[in-house]
Amino acid sequence: MSVSVGLVGLGYWGPNLARNLLRSPNAELRWLCDLSTELHDKHRPGFPDVRFTTQLEDLLADDTLDAIVIASPVPTHHRLGMLALEAGKHTFIEKPLALTAADAQELVEKAEAQDLRLMVGHLLEYHPAVLRMRDMIESGELGDVLYAYSHRLNLGQFRRDENALWSLGVHDVATLMFLLGDTPVEVGARGESYVHDGVEDVVFGDMKFAGGTMAHIHLSWLDPHKVRRLTVVGSQQMAVFDDMETERKLTIYDKGFSRSGNPEGSGSWGEYVAKREGDISIPHLPADEPLRLEVEHFLDCVATGATPRSDGRDGLRVVQVLEGMQRSLENGGTPTQLETPAGV
Ligand SMILES: NC(=O)c1ccc[n+]([C@@H]2O[C@H](COP(=O)([O-])OP(=O)(O)OC[C@H]3O[C@@H](n4cnc5c(N)ncnc54)[C@H](O)[C@@H]3O)[C@@H](O)[C@H]2O)c1
Repeated sequence: MSVSVGLVGLGYWGPNLARNLLRSPNAELRWLCDLSTELHDKHRPGFPDVRFTTQLEDLLADDTLDAIVIASPVPTHHRLGMLALEAGKHTFIEKPLALTAADAQELVEKAEAQDLRLMVGHLLEYHPAVLRMRDMIESGELGDVLYAYSHRLNLGQFRRDENALWSLGVHDVATLMFLLGDTPVEVGARGESYVHDGVEDVVFGDMKFAGGTMAHIHLSWLDPHKVRRLTVVGSQQMAVFDDMETERKLTIYDKGFSRSGNPEGSGSWGEYVAKREGDISIPHLPADEPLRLEVEHFLDCVATGATPRSDGRDGLRVVQVLEGMQRSLENGGTPTQLETPAGV
């Protein structure tokens, strides 16, 4: 079945989604919608058979349209998403799902009441390196996950409408929750606004997961390095996902420590805990583009009725964590307890 789709938002990110929809054998891209007619003119040559409009209503009123993909600014996600769902369209919303957990919850409930697929663009949940890392965690190859940390750093692009936590951190929070299959119970964050007043461009965040794992995220638009790296330290092996690498996206270090010998018989406690340094390996990963995989997954879920991997509930859990971190950010770093491990 070919899914008929309309896309909203042709700014920085939307055209990437539109290109993947156009190329997919499983989609028929019918509409491209943006308030800016200049953007219509810019993109019309690349999409000669697609109708352009400034009116979301045109998509909502098209009875032949199965699904709507929303790549508009985050403050519009809730309103546009609700309109799409109310019109009976399966809906993909870029990350984060909404600006508040209450708004995200409303989207989830509307999708469930209408029996429609709701998916959020947590892109890294479709990255082959992240999927391999998750397999290694689930199969026990890494051992017990002791802790994890990630860096998402760059110089610019300075945003005015959302801080580094909501713009960048959403990727790390979603990825860590996906990898660990767990939800934080306590979060904290500190940040500063060096470029635009009131918009934190540098954020250090912490999470304590229900299962005990601790995680740290460092986010910045004001850094000399371009870094997108996530490290998971297990009791058996350690894994590093480096998205700036072309061929070595995932590196596995057979490193750690082991308790060897009998403490009674050894000379000191230091000898008893032995450092272990084994092979360093680089698994071969499929060369699939995560964005293509994400788009295909959405189309497949619409066609088959399957629940998306990054469904509305996943989106809601991530927004709950971001909201908790934002509260901590506003309270000088005081940790926030998250009530329910956000199961909704
Ligand atoms: N997955 C990723 O890696 C990634 C990367 C960048 C951005 N994003 C996400 O994509 C979304 C869009 O970000 P962006 O950087 O492209 O923003 P942008 O501001 O560059 O583009 C948004 C576009 O939406 C249009 N728009 C706004 N309201 C509209 C409405 N009511 N109807 C029709 N069009 C409307 C605007 O005219 C604009 O062209 C955000 O949710 C952002 O978080 C995701």
